[in-house]
Amino acid sequence: MNRLPMLSAVQIAAERVLLRKARDTDRERLIELQTDPDVWTYIGGPRLREDVEQRLDAIGGTAKATANPGHFVIADKTTDDLLGTFELKRRAADEPGHVTDHGEELELGYLLRRDAWGAGLAFEAATTVLRAAADELPDQPVLIATQTANKRSLGLAARLGFQPVSTFEWFDAEQTLCLASLHSFKG
Ligand SMILES: CC(C)(COP(=O)(O)OP(=O)(O)OC[C@H]1O[C@@H](n2cnc3c(N)ncnc32)[C@H](O)[C@@H]1OP(=O)(O)O)[C@@H](O)C(=O)NCCC(=O)NCCS
Repeated sequence: MNRLPMLSAVQIAAERVLLRKARDTDRERLIELQTDPDVWTYIGGPRLREDVEQRLDAIGGTAKATANPGHFVIADKTTDDLLGTFELKRRAADEPGHVTDHGEELELGYLLRRDAWGAGLAFEAATTVLRAAADELPDQPVLIATQTANKRSLGLAARLGFQPVSTFEWFDAEQTLCLASLHSFKG
């Protein structure tokens, strides 16, 4: 288990979205997110519905899907419907793409339902989580690793102020590693 300090918040409100933990009622919208080919184009292709259902059952239900610190559902603040998922996690040392010798840097991961793209919601979610993390944790590097062909993800990284620092091959595709310092997000 990772013992490096992580964001402790379990719910953070932004202007239009709420970062919160998953509930069992999110199940269908989460499965739709995990099985949408548009969402998974640059991250290994969509999961099969059967596999996603089995995994959710294996972990003890949808409410456990965001149990790790820094893992959230992005919900519509008005309807509470799941719009996506957002993770502030640690980039495992045995994965490629690092800026420190020991790895385990903070890293962002984000998925939005296709019908929520193009409205600035991922930007809002990321800014809100990074600000909370900057207020709680010591300054340190934060990474985004994304396929170079994933222009929407690279666009989000650039809007957030991340700089591309290197490229590397992973799963037969070129990835771009983007870097920011956590305290650049202090409110
Ligand atoms: C990556 C992803 C989260 C980006 O979503 P997004 O909606 O494009 O990103 P943002 O939240 O930054 O929104 C930016 C867009 O909203 C528009 N926008 C509208 N209102 C806005 C507002 N109030 N604030 C900011 N942007 C706004 C911007 O003009 C921009 O539109 P454009 O893309 O047509 O130029 C989304 O494409 C996705 O889920 N992709 C699949 C999963 C994936 O690949 N994840 C990355 C894994 S590394």
